[in-house]
Amino acid sequence: MLQGKEILLGVTGGIAAYKSVLLLRELTKEGANVNVIMTKSATNFVGPLTFQTLSGNPVTTEIFTLFASSEIGHVALASRADLLVIAPATANIIGKIANGIADDFLSTMVMATTVPVLFAPAMNTNMWASPVVQRNISSLKTMGYNFMEPAEGELACGVTGRGKLADIDAIMDEVKALLSPDDLKGEKILISAGPTEEAIDPARCLTNRSSGKMGYNLAAVARRRGAEVTLVSGPTAELEAWGIKVVKVKTAVEMANAIDANLDGVTTVIMAAAVADFRPARQAAEKIKREAGDYCLELEPNPDILAGLGRRPDKPFLVGFAAETSKLLEHAGEKIQRKNLDMIVANDVTAPGAGFSVDTNIIKIIDRDGQTTDFPLMSKEKVAGAILDHILALKQKRRRQGQ
Ligand code: CTP
Repeated sequence: MLQGKEILLGVTGGIAAYKSVLLLRELTKEGANVNVIMTKSATNFVGPLTFQTLSGNPVTTEIFTLFASSEIGHVALASRADLLVIAPATANIIGKIANGIADDFLSTMVMATTVPVLFAPAMNTNMWASPVVQRNISSLKTMGYNFMEPAEGELACGVTGRGKLADIDAIMDEVKALLSPDDLKGEKILISAGPTEEAIDPARCLTNRSSGKMGYNLAAVARRRGAEVTLVSGPTAELEAWGIKVVKVKTAVEMANAIDANLDGVTTVIMAAAVADFRPARQAAEKIKREAGDYCLELEPNPDILAGLGRRPDKPFLVGFAAETSKLLEHAGEKIQRKNLDMIVANDVTAPGAGFSVDTNIIKIIDRDGQTTDFPLMSKEKVAGAILDHILALKQKRRRQGQ
């Protein structure tokens, strides 16, 4: 995702400085070239050699560092970068930048750069709540600087409250958002994800192998590209999605109701959830006991959520998924017609690297007019990007054709 990107990572002097080592690892893992700038006090918490070794670049700590004889360090770095991230950002650096003080390399760099700047603050709870810090943050926000909200929890000083450095995954998501095009701005996308779960008795349920990874990736990538996203999710182990409205459900009927309640103004619905077609006809109030002989579980049909959306006169752009084990194109094509979809994402869940629980997928996208596009094995994050690209392209094509 970050291949070819130049990122400046500013590290300031707080106990959370060790966590920016983990952030650096994630940034480089995704292909970014990272140059680290440490304040003097940051070097009391983590040695510059750690950042230098992991980034493969010299670490800048002094204002007069020269990279090449003809280039002044901060100007060269600032003009090459795509993004500057300050993590952790102390109350001190926030205060200095908000008030135009440039007395070390990092604060000078912030003044010298025209690229987006993301602050990930970390400090003591009372400092975070202080009106001075809050005023500085709000004036930096009005000037166009970006901020992560610190997390709540137990802080190094023993106090519990807000002030912990935001989760590394959340910072990574925001970095990607700031580097993504805003081509989905104006889209309001509702995405369903994960399995559904139908109770048999208080201890047992009917469910399926869906992990929710495809739907969660779609939601994250759509949000980064500027869409307003609602995620209706069945039970999954996936992490909370950042900047997204998440509605948690269990059964197919709950999912149908949650989708219905969140449909206002929605331009596109992507049904990535693996909805159970049937549920137990009766739910036992007590745990069913083992008895001699066979046990027969009677099932009754669940609503087909997608087909219901396809019948609405005001139907949004509808995207279905077809997880198949045979006759992929035939089954997927039939589903487009039967459910009145605009496009369907088909995958053979038996193919290695595709389907449930893995981080990759191999998909084919079939349009309403029968056109099929094949994609190679890709990460579910990349697949999400390809699906969203395809939705945009189809919508543009229709607009051009005046449909
Ligand atoms: N779907 C739905 N409601 C259901 C079942 C499926 O909205 N009760 C949606 C899924 O989220 C998916 C699409 O319909 O986007 C196709 O799901 P799939 O299970 O493949 O289709 P079914 O119609 O159930 O067909 P079958 O199980 O016979 O393959």
